[in-house]
Amino acid sequence: MHIVHTIADLRDALSRFRRPAFVPTMGNLHDGHIALVRQARPLGDVTVSSIFVNRLQFAPHEDFDSYPRTLDTDAERLKAAGCNVLFAPREQELYPQPQTYRVHPASDLSDILEGHFRPGFFIGVSTVVLKLFSCVYAGMPSGIAAFGKKDYQQVMVVRRMVQQFALPIEILAGETQRAPDGLALSSRNGYLSPAEREEAVQLSIALRTLGHAALASTPGDLPALEATAMQGLARRGWKPDYLTVRRRSDLLSPQVGHPPEPLVVLGAAKLGNTRLIDNLEI
Ligand code: PAF
Repeated sequence: MHIVHTIADLRDALSRFRRPAFVPTMGNLHDGHIALVRQARPLGDVTVSSIFVNRLQFAPHEDFDSYPRTLDTDAERLKAAGCNVLFAPREQELYPQPQTYRVHPASDLSDILEGHFRPGFFIGVSTVVLKLFSCVYAGMPSGIAAFGKKDYQQVMVVRRMVQQFALPIEILAGETQRAPDGLALSSRNGYLSPAEREEAVQLSIALRTLGHAALASTPGDLPALEATAMQGLARRGWKPDYLTVRRRSDLLSPQVGHPPEPLVVLGAAKLGNTRLIDNLEI
């Protein structure tokens, strides 16, 4: 596996290829990332991953400084998974000047849920993803990019960006990988104390319970069911931001009187100092 740190070296390493399969990450890799690499690999003629902790998507009070940087172990895992090129730029390489040109995704999708609780988050994500795409795919006729469904809204925002800018990139959404108890794998799980780690599975349990209740009721009942789910977690000591049932198509609330549509239950809640997110398609 080639490890490259500059855009020029990345383009050089990819110059013989025509269809990169790309998995962008912020590092501190877990089995979810590795599953994405394995899924994406047969779909391209070269497999690329990036590790870049993107300052633009962190609010000043968030964990940019403490986000775990584990390049050596990450590189070993990527190599073992069959990744061919690892792009690990320094901040100065990707942002040599302040990044004043940014992608502002449509607010109907990006100002709700995660975007509501983390203002500017999807501007930061879309901007870095577009920039990484331009580093990886410049001059390529087509490509694949893989993202995990745990960040459900992120996948939708990126998909729409790709459609609206007519980028020749197919987005692959990989299923959420879970620990044996059901906790969704996340780089931030490492922040949990042993007691919090034991409690953490309750988020996915709450989403499952809310999903079952939602399927047995009508859209008019959802606000009460969602409130009950949030109160349940709050009673256990969590600080829930949202637990909500949305349409998979646009992440808006299902409407009374409309035909049933595919739904997804999404949740975000803080356990101690760690904010966890998860979702479940129902
Ligand atoms: O999901 C992530 O790890 C990040 O948001 C991404 C897509 C690598 C952009 O920084």
